[in-house]
Amino acid sequence: MSHWNTSLATKLHAALVSREERWIRRRLPDPNTSSSGSPLIDFNSNDYLSLSASPALRSRFLRKLDAAPDILGSGGSRLLVNGRAHSAFEARLCNFFGSEAALLFNSGFDANVGFFSCIPQPGDAIIYDEYIHASVHDGIRASRVRDAQYSFSHNSIASLRQVLAKLLNERPGVRSGANSVFIAVESLYSMDGTFSPLSEITDLLEKTFPQRNGYLIVDEAHATGIYGPQGRGRVADLGLESKVLARLHTFGKALAATGAVVLTNTLIRDYLLNYARSLIYTTSLSYANIVAADCSFDMLTDGTAEELASDLLEVSTHFTDYLRPRLAHIPPELLSLPSHLSEASVAPPSPIIPLMTLHPRPLSAYLLALGMNARPITWPTVPKGKDRVRVCLHAGNTVADVEKLAQGAIRWAEETMAARKKEVQRDGQRFEESKL
Ligand SMILES: Cc1ncc(COP(=O)(O)O)c(C=O)c1O
Repeated sequence: MSHWNTSLATKLHAALVSREERWIRRRLPDPNTSSSGSPLIDFNSNDYLSLSASPALRSRFLRKLDAAPDILGSGGSRLLVNGRAHSAFEARLCNFFGSEAALLFNSGFDANVGFFSCIPQPGDAIIYDEYIHASVHDGIRASRVRDAQYSFSHNSIASLRQVLAKLLNERPGVRSGANSVFIAVESLYSMDGTFSPLSEITDLLEKTFPQRNGYLIVDEAHATGIYGPQGRGRVADLGLESKVLARLHTFGKALAATGAVVLTNTLIRDYLLNYARSLIYTTSLSYANIVAADCSFDMLTDGTAEELASDLLEVSTHFTDYLRPRLAHIPPELLSLPSHLSEASVAPPSPIIPLMTLHPRPLSAYLLALGMNARPITWPTVPKGKDRVRVCLHAGNTVADVEKLAQGAIRWAEETMAARKKEVQRDGQRFEESKL
């Protein structure tokens, strides 16, 4: 294949070159910046509670693994081989989250694709927050809802209300209750660290849909383990369990495992088992994976996660409080906090803190040279003009770590400003000389 010179190769190559030219070509990061033992301070991974480095979790996992009857593989799709460990874990999750039913998926991505591709029926409508995750988009695209897909402005109740009013106006089936409306949100948005106004949304749905045909689906991927009693998430924190059709919790972020669970009712679970292709046509999570996720939930139930989350949110607040006043003399397009963080707020702190900048790559490279790993995020992952360095904080980050990060970012901005000033002066000088 070394001289692969077909028209397909030409097209693929051209697409990559085009991405390169627009500075949006994706590449795998250097493994040395990501693995344990890296000297870099991690402001990048989604390991919010630092559980992946927890000696207690590691030894618990190894002990349970040693004692487990099955650890290798899983033998096939859940519909072919339904391991005892998988069923027992689902029962545990139902109990822990107080849910009627729970269904495991191999990942949060698969769960969103599975749910949104099959649960909405022809004639139904789907509304999603404009910042919703790519997996929900993929699910919606594969669904039977073709002409009734709407987005609303990020976290805007006014915008959601407008979309709902339009729907009710234009679709008699939605008005009568014959058709359903699904609303997709994330409890904590992965790129912005903003919280969905869940209580306001459920209130609005109750008022708008007396026939109870408006359904909320909450993706808790980034809130799992951090918010709510023992890390049960934002829905549980706000007591909205009975007002939400389905919640997604993933195990790959704060829980240091992989996989996901959809918490819902038994009818939806049965339907997913019959129609969700991302569940039916794939080998289920391996036994070892179930053991790992089960051990992570031990850390939630024994109160460890709550303690770590408290450390995490404390260090997150410290970072923004420390950085905010130091940004006063920096032009916002060079470096700023997003509007929801530009002044102290009543919202709970979030470990996801975007450093807004039109130059995310140079800032990220500067921080890397100082021993800190925080990744640049650009379009198409975030909207055009909303480039940033996404800072993800962890329970294991210290006050000194986050102050170093803030100082590094400020120093980069100051040096960039100074370099620009010099350039302007040089240009002025050249202009004067050209007149001589
Ligand atoms: C909001 C959100 N939902 C779902 C997913 C997918 O979860 P997983 O990594 O388990 O596939 C992600 C991961 O990036 C996410 O950020």
